[in-house]
Amino acid sequence: GGNGGHGSSGLKFTPVPPNKLDELTVPAGYDHSVVVRWGDPVLPGAPAFNFNNQTAAAQATQFGYNCDFVTLFPMGKDRALLWVNHEYTDENLMFRGYTDGTAATEEQIKIGLAAHGGSVVEIARVGKSGKWALVTSGRRKYNRRITAQTPMRFSGPAAGSDLLKTAADPHGKVVKGMLNNCAGGTTPWGTILTAEENWNQYFVGGNGVPEAQKANLTRYGVSTTAAIPSGSRRFDRIEERFDLAKHPHEINRFGWIVEIDPFDPDGTPIKRTALGRMAHEAATTTIAKDGKLVAYMGDDSRFEYFFKFVSKNRYIPGFDRHNRDLLDEGTLYVAKLTGDSPAAEIDGTGKLPADGAFDGSGVWIPLVSGNKSFVPGMTAQEVLVFTRTAADKVGATKMDRPEDMERNPVNGAIYLALTNNTNRTAAQLDEANPRPSNKHGHILEIVEYRNDAGATKFAWSLPLICGDPNDPSTYFAGFDKTKVSPISCPDNVAFDADGNLWISTDGNALGTNDGLFVMPTQGKERGFVRQFLTVPFAAETCGPFITADQRSVFVAVQHPGETTGATPDAPTSRWPDGDQPRPSVAVAWHKQGKKIGS
Ligand code: FEO
Ligand code: CA
Ligand code: CA
Ligand code: CA
Repeated sequence: GGNGGHGSSGLKFTPVPPNKLDELTVPAGYDHSVVVRWGDPVLPGAPAFNFNNQTAAAQATQFGYNCDFVTLFPMGKDRALLWVNHEYTDENLMFRGYTDGTAATEEQIKIGLAAHGGSVVEIARVGKSGKWALVTSGRRKYNRRITAQTPMRFSGPAAGSDLLKTAADPHGKVVKGMLNNCAGGTTPWGTILTAEENWNQYFVGGNGVPEAQKANLTRYGVSTTAAIPSGSRRFDRIEERFDLAKHPHEINRFGWIVEIDPFDPDGTPIKRTALGRMAHEAATTTIAKDGKLVAYMGDDSRFEYFFKFVSKNRYIPGFDRHNRDLLDEGTLYVAKLTGDSPAAEIDGTGKLPADGAFDGSGVWIPLVSGNKSFVPGMTAQEVLVFTRTAADKVGATKMDRPEDMERNPVNGAIYLALTNNTNRTAAQLDEANPRPSNKHGHILEIVEYRNDAGATKFAWSLPLICGDPNDPSTYFAGFDKTKVSPISCPDNVAFDADGNLWISTDGNALGTNDGLFVMPTQGKERGFVRQFLTVPFAAETCGPFITADQRSVFVAVQHPGETTGATPDAPTSRWPDGDQPRPSVAVAWHKQGKKIGS
């Protein structure tokens, strides 16, 4: 509901100015606090965090490192389960004297394994405000740590495939852990979908794989020449499976969407192979007009693709046993976008084409449906395990790093963050990716045919081309550029109930800190971007998550102080404690209890 459809965004706050402060800033009238930090006890009985005396056993019971995807599962009005991804680790900030994985102690490597994954933590509202805090006593029976070593299983058409079989798992059905879980989504039946993104960085020995496998490794960004790629955490020193020369298929067991039930602390996470394998950024679900479940997914690397999955069977509200198999059977599609303006008008200057918009039409090209492949020369299982290669073969559109996406609850359109692509040359422009050396990224808006998420064709346009508004290559949906906040590198997106798009950024190429922004998508304020929050120095902003009552917005503050050469003895951030930087989840609220953005 809300009033977004009638042209008023309801946004009244005074934007925060860009800055390089080592603090989290919010607009006047708002407050914020830290909910949970790296190292905070998660499981009952976990020890207090001690930076100078870390152990893997403690880390496995404490909140993990670099927090990314944030979502909330209410347990009544004032209690909730908070899920947070722990994407990766910054060992050089975690340990004094750390140089690299080869010189690291075995305990440090084990801490790294335990600091990956995700956390389920119980949180409670503080008073009657929009403030929430970690519950630190009591049974907390749902609290859980998932790590790079948690037992998981495969489901869907590639489960049991020869491509997933290893010495430790001759049936190709089970796997230990998940890696580099970036953003994610939720299902209508109340589970988490968490996305394995840059898992290619955890393996060594790519030079020693069978020759026939090398092209597949290369396509996913794994070195086939280096024995030990630079920067390797050397997980192989603890678990031999991370050595490709010895276990060439282990890597095929990462790069999936993983489903986790936050209310089943003993449940086995499930890697859903029907959703394909890529540098999965996220999976956002919605329901098609005929009741089928749809999941939109981006492959976040330069020149990669935008996908969606449509289930074979219909979602039946309340029929959990049925719904829980929906992600195992269906059709995986990849997007092909065509511009409607002459190619000569996409000249890279930032000038709009003569028809006044970067826009056009698109089709969803089917790649695989159950055990049927639509890609010449590839089996269904090959399409699911080597999804990038399959998308190459059907001529899908190479995008500027597809990150998170969300469906607008007011108008049904889909919004995808394309974070940047500095490698795109003037010769590689298309109307959907119209800027060469795209440092600041843009937002793609998709309207599915008849507004049906199950459709196989769509219309698209670019409402936002990011950057400094004084830069002529930027576009703010035609809104007065003297009034907007500069914005760079959109990453995660969320909607409020009024249909305003909230955008968090990662990698701000304008030289100031990352943050959280909001842009109305309809009415006279469409394109009126305003900055709501900034994060501490060298952090990226993840989440965001706006509660159903619109009174709280959660953000993950990932990697504060992550700068070249920073160490515990020379940190570039001391957030949030004035000591060593700690990736944390924070919450912001209006002091008078008004809705976020008021
Ligand atoms: Fe982990 Fe695509 O950001
Ligand atoms: Ca056009
Ligand atoms: Ca991201
Ligand atoms: Ca990112």
